Amino acid sequence: MTDRYAVIGNPIAHSKSPAIHAAFARQTGQDMSYEAILAPQDGFAAAVAAFRAAGGRGMNVTVPFKLEALALADMPTERARLAGAANTLRFDADGVFADNTDGVGLARDLTGRLGLRLAGRRILILGAGGAARGVILPLLEERPALLAVANRSVDKAEALKAQFAPFGELAAGGFDAFAGGAFDVVINATSASLAGAHLALPAGLFAPGALAYDMVYGKGETPFLAQARRLGATLVSDGLGMLVEQAAESFFLWRGVRPATAPVLAMLAGGTG
Ligand code: ATR
Repeated sequence: MTDRYAVIGNPIAHSKSPAIHAAFARQTGQDMSYEAILAPQDGFAAAVAAFRAAGGRGMNVTVPFKLEALALADMPTERARLAGAANTLRFDADGVFADNTDGVGLARDLTGRLGLRLAGRRILILGAGGAARGVILPLLEERPALLAVANRSVDKAEALKAQFAPFGELAAGGFDAFAGGAFDVVINATSASLAGAHLALPAGLFAPGALAYDMVYGKGETPFLAQARRLGATLVSDGLGMLVEQAAESFFLWRGVRPATAPVLAMLAGGTG
């Protein structure tokens, strides 16, 4: 029987997840379907319950429901608990398993497609909201020389530093605290790009040869990547590769099979998805 999966969010119409998972299923010969479900703002838990009752096997969860997804889990992973959010649910016989694959998706895109070695490097995360929190543990696990979180509201960066202290050392501060920081990788995890806002980045943030990575993606270069180039970043990348990698990790959790991501990313980037 065909196993049913879905992505749930609000809005959901422009989600690329159905195209990504359909491509993974074709490539690996898995008998599964994957649909997009629009849940009302106050109707997430009911929509999940209905999908599960109808035989659904698992879900991806996107904005604005990732916190609620973690809350309804019986078996959350440590990385989901630390992220404070889940993007992947699996309906097991003994309850709801929940994980957050965003951070490992970012780490794989950086180390795989972009060929970076993160061990011993200086990494800066811009932002201290949900998107930032979701990627800290997988980046710490790569053993960078320095992992820093810079945020407009310094108290939120400090709170992340305290929360992750048992797992590794984070540097925290406002943007200006990292002037001259010469980072090898600078990751935009703020929501500023989405609002078209400019970040108040200080001078000297980028080491020679540095990569600027924007967790969001869109048509053409994002405002952050354009700004990063002007400030001296050598390499730039948007977050489409992270999207495909987090999807591959979810697919693996559901199906036990790891799909190849490069052809699917090429399909999306070529606009044929
Ligand atoms: P998300 O889940 O996408 O991370 P969030 O939790 O609302 O969303 O967090 C948004 C992040 O973007 C925060 O770090 C926010 O900074 P503040 O904590 O100071 O609000 C950051 N952000 C949004 N707009 C910004 C801007 N124009 N300049 C700098 N930081 C911005």
